[in-house]
Amino acid sequence: MNNLNLEINNDIATLTFDLKNSKANKLSFEVLSELDILLNEIKENKEIKALVIDSAKPTIFIAGADIKEIEAMNTEEEVYEQITKGDNILNKLEDLSIPTIAYINGACMGGGLELALCCKYRIASTNPKTKLAFPEIKLGFFPGLGGTQRAPKVIGLINSLDLILTGKIIDAKKAYILGLVNEIFDDGQKEFKLNTFVQKAINGEIKKKKLSFMNNLLEKYSFTREIVYYQTQKSIEKKVNRDFNAPYMALEVIKQTFGKPFEEGIFIEAKAFSKLAATKESKYMIELFFMFEKFNKSYKKTSKPISDVLVVGNGVMGKGMIWLFSKFLNEVRIKLRKIDQANSILNSVAKLYSSSIKRRSMTKNQLEFKLNKISYTDKFNGMHNIELAIEAIIEDEKAKKETFAELEKVLDKNSIIASNTSSISIEELSSELKNKKNFVGVHFFNPVNIMPLVEIIPSSQTSKKTINRVMELLVSCGKTPIIVGDCAGFIVNRILLPYLNEAAFILEEGSSIKQIDKILKDFGMPMGPFILADTVGIDIGYKVSKILNEAYGERMTMSPLLDRVYNDLKLLGTKSKKGFYIHNGRDIKVNEEITEPYNLNRQFTEEQIIQRCIYIMINEASRCLEEGIVQSANVINFAMITGTGFPPYKGGLLNYANDVGLENVLNTLNSLYGRYGKRFKPSNLLIKLVENKKNFKTGDELWIS
Ligand code: NAI
Repeated sequence: MNNLNLEINNDIATLTFDLKNSKANKLSFEVLSELDILLNEIKENKEIKALVIDSAKPTIFIAGADIKEIEAMNTEEEVYEQITKGDNILNKLEDLSIPTIAYINGACMGGGLELALCCKYRIASTNPKTKLAFPEIKLGFFPGLGGTQRAPKVIGLINSLDLILTGKIIDAKKAYILGLVNEIFDDGQKEFKLNTFVQKAINGEIKKKKLSFMNNLLEKYSFTREIVYYQTQKSIEKKVNRDFNAPYMALEVIKQTFGKPFEEGIFIEAKAFSKLAATKESKYMIELFFMFEKFNKSYKKTSKPISDVLVVGNGVMGKGMIWLFSKFLNEVRIKLRKIDQANSILNSVAKLYSSSIKRRSMTKNQLEFKLNKISYTDKFNGMHNIELAIEAIIEDEKAKKETFAELEKVLDKNSIIASNTSSISIEELSSELKNKKNFVGVHFFNPVNIMPLVEIIPSSQTSKKTINRVMELLVSCGKTPIIVGDCAGFIVNRILLPYLNEAAFILEEGSSIKQIDKILKDFGMPMGPFILADTVGIDIGYKVSKILNEAYGERMTMSPLLDRVYNDLKLLGTKSKKGFYIHNGRDIKVNEEITEPYNLNRQFTEEQIIQRCIYIMINEASRCLEEGIVQSANVINFAMITGTGFPPYKGGLLNYANDVGLENVLNTLNSLYGRYGKRFKPSNLLIKLVENKKNFKTGDELWIS
């Protein structure tokens, strides 16, 4: 056996997962076949009174199925064949007549949790690394090794739907409350508590947790279950595009199989799982998962990671950063313009913690502790120990340069200065600094507490050490940094702004805010371009648009409508409660004054709107590759998914372009170029790819062959 060990002591068998040459335990084909052999052995051995399943890895029980193996399967039949083999092995575990106990210390995810559910009992350690979840939905499928069948029996229908459809991660305590585990052990209690638990299990003394009164009531009768299904369906529809089938299908499977005989249920589950796991959508979701892993590892660990940070500028972005660094670091200092701003800023930061308080993942005392790490000043002082100063003041080159000059005077010579500029060239911003090697662009996305992406933009002088230290810091704060070249707008804004601008052009031509927003949301964007402009801030959008226009000329001409909304109507968006929409709490209405002068009432087709808004981005992305601003199409796909919410199940912008066909994209761009002029002029790379009958290359390789 390469990956599993079986030991028998005093008639108690312990089966320990310890995957060879790996930090994590995974359920690969090889592991499952070893499990099969050992389960046969255990079944034959009539001396064994109980079986404990354990892991030799310090922070992982079983991290899930081997995703690479699922990724490699391309047909429904292939998946079905493998999944039924897996099912048969796990059924053997469930069918053992002796008490079986999973001891969960560390991550217990997906297939790992499904395996644990085949045991009669589960114990979880309260070690903070112990996390339980069904994350499959994030990969475009759902638990396919009996999870949809066994979880409802253990924790009920409602709790199972919640875990399976959201992929949410829970800790040991929550798992105990739900009844997903029968017992929790504090760290270090295993030695003396496990044996007692096993003996109790042998004696049949372990009781199953009952469902809550309300859940029991809702799950007991078929008509109340229908209400549960209906509400679940509605809540999925609110959040998930219909093109992403996994949660819809998971709900359908559970609905069809709840209360049915196991054999029938598991067959339906396997069939539906096989269908999903073979889809392109799922392959793209897996690709995204691996990209996250890759980018999060693309730095070298240093002996002294950054721990003390200064934030200059306390607007939307500054507050987000103060929250982030206070959450993860030792000390955060804020440079205020006026000292009396401090209270309101600290209150806003505290508000960003409120969801953690609500979810009870943080206590009020812990919040106090985090807020106490924040110190402030209205002068450039008390900054000698600062290792990184990040600037998030208004998007104004002169003001930013003045700030850097002040910072350089007071910071240590090894300290890093970073700018959160959305669009100004990093080369230019660093031009007056003495110590250019310690200066770098660090572009967060709004809202900082939600968006995982950060663009790192080195100038020609930025040192590798600076880049590495910043990347290490960001990953330790749960962000995923990508390195992009220095150009106006970097990657995400440079590609996204033409999309927002094009939406404004279409609006001017007589479409409506509602129609455009709806079509692009239905396409899969998390929100339409106008609601997005309001959320980001029309002032920010306008300023970035202006900078891009100056940098790229006629190709990025700003729509007169955007100019009017900002300069004449003086609208800012959500922050002033009025932009393309009027925002009144949850009540959001279209702001009719915007379209008054243009009310032509022209109908545009869905295809026209999608082509104009999306293909213009594909074209700009193609230019970014052509200019070497990024090294591969996958960086763009990743950036657009994580920075703008471009539908991940479409594989990001350039996988989508490949799928609709580059020739098709080029022909459409050519005809739009003829009609609307330079902003649609096809990029040379796109023309070259079509001539050579090639696609944008995704994967690790560079785009140039
Ligand atoms: P904001 O308008 O909310 O905040 C700007 C802050 O700068 C305010 O605290 C203001 O008091 C301060 N400020 C204004 N003039 C100043 C000066 N001369 N010296 C020092 N401080 C000054 O702006 P927001 O949205 O936080 O943006 C800040 C920076 O982050 C900008 O460079 C922006 O381009 C960039 N950014 C903005 C994003 C967004 O979605 N809002 C996303 C990513 C980057």
